[in-house]
Amino acid sequence: MSKMPQKKISSRKYGCFWGIGGAKLQRTFKTNIPSPAAAPAGRAPRSALPKEGRPPPAMEGYRNATEVQMTQLVQPGHTNYRGELSVGQLLKWIDTAACLSAERHAGCPCVTASVDDIYFEHTIRHLHMESPGYSCGRNKVCVGQVVNIKAKVNRAFNSSMEVGVQVSHEDLCNGEQWNVCKAYATFVAQGKPTAKIKLKPLVPQTEEEKIEYSVAAERRRMRLAHADTIKGLLSKSPVQSELETRTCHSVVPAEETRVESVELILPPHANHQGNTFGGQIMAWMENVATIAASRLCHSHPTLKTIEMFHFRGPSQVGDRLVFKAIVNNAFKYSMEVGVCVEAYRHEMEVSRRHINSAFMTFVALDEEGQPRTLPVLKPEPGDGERRFKEASARQKIRLDRKYVISCKHTEVPLSVPWDESNKVYLSYNNVTALKTLVAKADWVPASERDKFKMYTLEEDTFLSIRIEMTTSIDAMQAFLLLSDLQRRHEWDRHYASCELVQQVDKDDMIYHVISQTMSEENKPQDFVVLVSRRKPCSKGDPYVVAFRSVTLPTHPAKPEYTRGETLCSGFCIWQETDELAKVAYYHQATSGVLTYITTNIAGLSSSFHSTFQACEQFLQKNKDDACIEE
Ligand code: COA
Ligand code: ADP
Repeated sequence: MSKMPQKKISSRKYGCFWGIGGAKLQRTFKTNIPSPAAAPAGRAPRSALPKEGRPPPAMEGYRNATEVQMTQLVQPGHTNYRGELSVGQLLKWIDTAACLSAERHAGCPCVTASVDDIYFEHTIRHLHMESPGYSCGRNKVCVGQVVNIKAKVNRAFNSSMEVGVQVSHEDLCNGEQWNVCKAYATFVAQGKPTAKIKLKPLVPQTEEEKIEYSVAAERRRMRLAHADTIKGLLSKSPVQSELETRTCHSVVPAEETRVESVELILPPHANHQGNTFGGQIMAWMENVATIAASRLCHSHPTLKTIEMFHFRGPSQVGDRLVFKAIVNNAFKYSMEVGVCVEAYRHEMEVSRRHINSAFMTFVALDEEGQPRTLPVLKPEPGDGERRFKEASARQKIRLDRKYVISCKHTEVPLSVPWDESNKVYLSYNNVTALKTLVAKADWVPASERDKFKMYTLEEDTFLSIRIEMTTSIDAMQAFLLLSDLQRRHEWDRHYASCELVQQVDKDDMIYHVISQTMSEENKPQDFVVLVSRRKPCSKGDPYVVAFRSVTLPTHPAKPEYTRGETLCSGFCIWQETDELAKVAYYHQATSGVLTYITTNIAGLSSSFHSTFQACEQFLQKNKDDACIEE
């Protein structure tokens, strides 16, 4: 099992990637600067922010036009044999709410194209199944209690939309609400058979909507590459066989867990166009997967994660669907079950359409709710052995991905170990962190000199700085010049040298930078930095160049340098007019280092000013060298 090490943030090691380490910035800076810009309409006041685990309260006076709310009372018929709301039922509600939201934006029928990985935070239980000592609270919902589902379109692309779905459950006894899971589904608007629909763009209003809108482009990039990413990783991952490393008294042949089940699509399973509801298919898939998992652990398993559902092709009323499931691998405490779905129209039909495949992770819990050790699985020869190995590789990818994607920003270590198998997620994480910072609403003007404006953003654990200018350059040219770290010494006097360590792909590079800035130990700082760059996904989006620290075994910290780290920094460049681009540099620092970074806002802003001035001169001097990429 792979788990990336958590590292405590150390202020001594932290370096300002811009190179202005050592300058002091007092937390009292707010009193010297203009009052904060008004928060956008409907933004929840900080005092109203939710406790951890609770969904945010509804924002007063503003409602997203695509938002759909579904409130369901959990009935006995919705629960499984464990007394918990069945995940299949939940998936049906999620799909329906998401579809209605997508159709509200599109104004025409929509079909589910995919549902991203889902991680379940809390299960929803029947009161009688509760162990002694539990109250009907934090992670339990009884029959007769309420599940709230909120769906809204985060972004419309061409014919497809990303819909974000938040599921919470509500304890009617004490009014508390708890998150169950978050899901992202993609729906495609269906026009006339020959015409591809072009959806109207969505204009985000609130800070949260702006963040989701911006990050949706990153998620789309990742989901469209998902199949290839997994294929590539599977072919490269070294697989260690669990059979060899685990001593276990019981071994179960995979064959004993095999399940096959057929369903006839009837009108209640289909939507208004006669296409089967995606949620219904997911529910049937979860059903057969649960049976396969139960056959291994001989108890009632709990579903922990579902890997992305991709609806490869439609099915209609009258189609027969065959669901096949088997346990692919059993690890110490969790197992992977694979399910595939094929469709056919007539009993005499020989060929079947492969319409879906998914992988689900289950655990078996004991009476205290602790995971039980599972028997070892003996795979079938041939495909079974291949799937056994692929399940091990997927487990590693899943854990790395979950760690990188779902880790709270505050818990991410400043440097994460670089690993080929999680490069896609580290790149995603790098760009997403910067995009999230950019979309924040509470930036406060701090200083203005010549054409350079500086802003600060103070959050619970972070202090961030943004400095921007508008200059006469094409945004693409500025993007190419600023993403080439090997040219940074030409304008940033803090850079002593910069070596390209690895060209990961066309948009991601790792550099080793040696800075002129002296650390507290009176040594120059060095950084190992992942640079991830993105062109705009649609008109109005900025070009993005994001930096974050990584660790590489080939470039360990050396005694002659103090290893500096950057959690999130980078450039955003917007094309303002045909001739003008707005260039903004962002840098985020953790509050633990404020007393270390810091002197006063004037000193810091003057240092930023001179560096940014040099940056503009560099852009002007070299803009005609940067060849525009198509
Ligand atoms: N995840 C998310 N979006 C996807 C996707 C995936 N795995 N595969 C394709 N898309 C998006 C594309 O990005 C494109 O979006 P854009 O127009 O905004 O750029 C859109 O789907 C259409 O892509 P295109 O390549 O023209 O179509 P396709 O031939 O890949 O068809 C579906 C996509 C979804 C329409 C098709 O696979 C389908 O009909 N699937 C079954 C849908 C269904 O019936 N679902 C209900 C359950 S059966
Ligand atoms: P892959 O074989 O590469 O995993 P498939 O789409 O063929 O991909 O199948 C997805 C999963 O469905 C498999 O990993 C397996 O767990 C399950 N599966 C496929 N075929 C069968 C089958 N004939 N019987 C039982 N389960 C199956």
